[in-house]
Amino acid sequence: MGISYFRTAGTLITGTGSIAEVGEQAKKLEATKAIIVTDKIIRETGLLSKVTEPLSAAGLEADIIDDVVPEPPFENLEQLAAQIEGKGYDLLIGVGGGSALDITKVLSIMLTNKEDVREFVGIEKVKNPGVPMILVPTTAGTGSEVTYNAIFTDTRDKVKKGIVSPYLLPSVAIVDAELTLSVPPAVTAATGMDALVHAVESYTAIRAGELTDGIALQAIKLISRSIRKAVYNGKDLKARENMAMGSLLAGISLGNAGVGAVHALAYPLGGKFKVPHGVANSLLLPFVMKYNAVADLKKFAEVAEALGENIEGLSLREAADRAVAALAQLSRDVGIPSSLKEVGVTASDIPALAEEASKVDRLLNNNPRWLTMKEIQKIYEEAYGAVEEPSLT
Ligand SMILES: NC(=O)c1ccc[n+]([C@@H]2O[C@H](COP(=O)([O-])OP(=O)(O)OC[C@H]3O[C@@H](n4cnc5c(N)ncnc54)[C@H](O)[C@@H]3O)[C@@H](O)[C@H]2O)c1
Ligand SMILES: [Fe+2]
Repeated sequence: MGISYFRTAGTLITGTGSIAEVGEQAKKLEATKAIIVTDKIIRETGLLSKVTEPLSAAGLEADIIDDVVPEPPFENLEQLAAQIEGKGYDLLIGVGGGSALDITKVLSIMLTNKEDVREFVGIEKVKNPGVPMILVPTTAGTGSEVTYNAIFTDTRDKVKKGIVSPYLLPSVAIVDAELTLSVPPAVTAATGMDALVHAVESYTAIRAGELTDGIALQAIKLISRSIRKAVYNGKDLKARENMAMGSLLAGISLGNAGVGAVHALAYPLGGKFKVPHGVANSLLLPFVMKYNAVADLKKFAEVAEALGENIEGLSLREAADRAVAALAQLSRDVGIPSSLKEVGVTASDIPALAEEASKVDRLLNNNPRWLTMKEIQKIYEEAYGAVEEPSLT
């Protein structure tokens, strides 16, 4: 057995109403000056009072900065860093989806490291630990509260880039499903499918192992059984709780086993075509799975079982095929486009997309089946005109 590391948030607090603990947690971290990092839409929902009230009760008044933009570019990070620098903040509280949490994580290290933020892109390029953080997700999706990576759009080459460092893990993560009740259906679908992709990709990744396999399978079960309800009846608290727990588990698995080609091929769609991260992943998942499945039929058959498919009497190949079809169906059921055409890509864009995706070695090296430019291009071509559900047979 190879050597592996397992990392997650310092303290993980879960459960409906758990956000009430934020004040006590801030006190334990000996915070004297805190800032909440969020976006304008979240501020407008009014849910920040669930964070500020317990903080006030613990004797801590927090400033708020709400200029995070969705799928943030590095420039957004630089602009926010300039606003908070030199003000003596000793606690950052990220409240939001993956965009606000990723920004918070990198702001924390920008306050203690003086290099240009682009120099942190890649694996373990950050020298000093950051300012302590509490991360509070308000979408059930990215799992960013427990991963040690953060993703930004590089507006120069229009590709999404990752900063990977253990210093991006928060002291505390608080996952409270009540904060996700206001997420609109399309965002619930995209973020929920992103979480499901994290679970499936990390379960079948090269770096998958005993520490993450059970976690990933439980995430697949929870998300696949609740996502339709959460999308179509957003007030269903049980469905939201399952999604919150599912996305957290998927994040723990992703954080330690990593993801693969679905994310690599999704990055240029986010960068160039502004397709939301979860939509790009969900759209590509069946096509990449169809390609990957033969590399590990057993694991893909297990994915089918976790998705609730009856695989009794089926060969491993047939069962793996069921997983591909079930995920394509689920994605359609929650309203995600099933072809690249539908998100504005034209056939002539495909070679450039394939070229960009082929550069994401960090993820492609973790994919269960080797891909060259040729295969990447073929997957995009299949996804381009999809009408039928992809199948192995
Ligand atoms: N760090 C990681 O491990 C990781 C993993 C996957 C994705 N990501 C990154 O995360 C970003 C995407 O994050 P996301 O999918 O959570 O989307 P997001 O953070 O961009 O949020 C999507 C939209 O939903 C709104 N929103 C969020 N919570 C809400 C609530 N409770 N009520 C109403 N509206 C709400 C936001 O204001 C925003 O407009 C991308 O940049 C992606 O690359 C990071
Ligand atoms: Fe993702």
